[in-house]
Amino acid sequence: MKTTLTVIKADVGSIGGHIMPSKRLLARVQEVVESAGKALIQDHYIGFTGDDIAILMTHTHGVRHEQVHKLAWDAFVAGTAIAKEEGLYGAGQDLLKDSFSGNVHGLGPAVAEMEINERPNEPFLFFAADKTDPGAYNLPLFLTFADVMTTPGLILSPKLSQGFRWVVMDVNHTEGDRVIELVTPEEIYDLAALLRDNERFVVESVWSRASGEQCAAVATSRLHNIAGKYTGKDDPVMMVRTQMDFPATGEVLAPYAIGHFVAGGMRGSHNMPLMPVALNTPTSYFDGPPLVSCAAFCVHGTKLTEPADCFAHPLWDEVRAHVSRKAIDMRRQGFNGAAMLPMAELEYTGVMDKLAKLEKRFTVRVQKKPAAAA
Ligand code: F6R
Ligand code: MG
Ligand code: MG
Repeated sequence: MKTTLTVIKADVGSIGGHIMPSKRLLARVQEVVESAGKALIQDHYIGFTGDDIAILMTHTHGVRHEQVHKLAWDAFVAGTAIAKEEGLYGAGQDLLKDSFSGNVHGLGPAVAEMEINERPNEPFLFFAADKTDPGAYNLPLFLTFADVMTTPGLILSPKLSQGFRWVVMDVNHTEGDRVIELVTPEEIYDLAALLRDNERFVVESVWSRASGEQCAAVATSRLHNIAGKYTGKDDPVMMVRTQMDFPATGEVLAPYAIGHFVAGGMRGSHNMPLMPVALNTPTSYFDGPPLVSCAAFCVHGTKLTEPADCFAHPLWDEVRAHVSRKAIDMRRQGFNGAAMLPMAELEYTGVMDKLAKLEKRFTVRVQKKPAAAA
């Protein structure tokens, strides 16, 4: 029987602005998943990254399963009631529709799922990011699965040397899922041409060409494409299987040492470097920098081990210090140029309103013609 790994995350309210969920809110989500999930799911893990709560579930029902999605939806609805009771900021903000219908796709919460043939040892990584969008994973995935400087396994392992199949989504297309498939290493430059644009082209999944098995699943929902306006950054979750036919855990983690600049931070409208943090870390400086946490698990007979906190290791303190310096440096240029996101990505309409008002005051200077030569 196949094992399904499902992670569904949402921001349904947080303390002190967009910082972190309250203990009571987390406890309520946990309570609902435990009680209502008894006969439905095999195992679960619940954690937070910044103001987002993620519910990781293992089960045997396949992806997009109505009851499994409803379990997470109900847990977030119950959590919202606590958030309202406690007066948390943004109570229920990611539950964009009034009622559940079929699955949570298009309803607000982010979803990443994989149905897998469990190997005898099945290590996988669960990433959760806050104050950014799904394109934040583009560069790390590209480096892990397509760059031999990051992943020596691409030349060391005959299975990895066969390359990977990529499914990339055009997230600007709102009338349905517009996707393209590419294979590496053959189409590596075409893939890079797409993945340079984090706000439009987003890796949805990566598959081993040696075994045909899925190795990565990314939540690709863009909240503004669902709500028709910005309701906050998407704060994507992702799962990556590791070792044997897939990149090693360390080859998946290594690109997060870069602290690359991603969309997110302050009012969802600024470019900030992505900081790898320990599990259950709140947000801080300038509503950022964007955070990414990673829990490593093994799943065996659909049961999860306890999580190993990948970014808690001392090496990442050095990375965090470097990312902090990058973040503070970028903030020195305030609203200008690369510091703020392009117009179409801003969460607020203020800049657009100001430009529309100023438009009427522009004049085109009339050049005096030079006097004709006598
Ligand atoms: C994401 C997040 C941000 C906010 C954005 C707008 O977790 O918190 O994207 O949604 O900063 O926030 P307010 O509510 O201040 O308009
Ligand atoms: Mg938020
Ligand atoms: Mg968030």
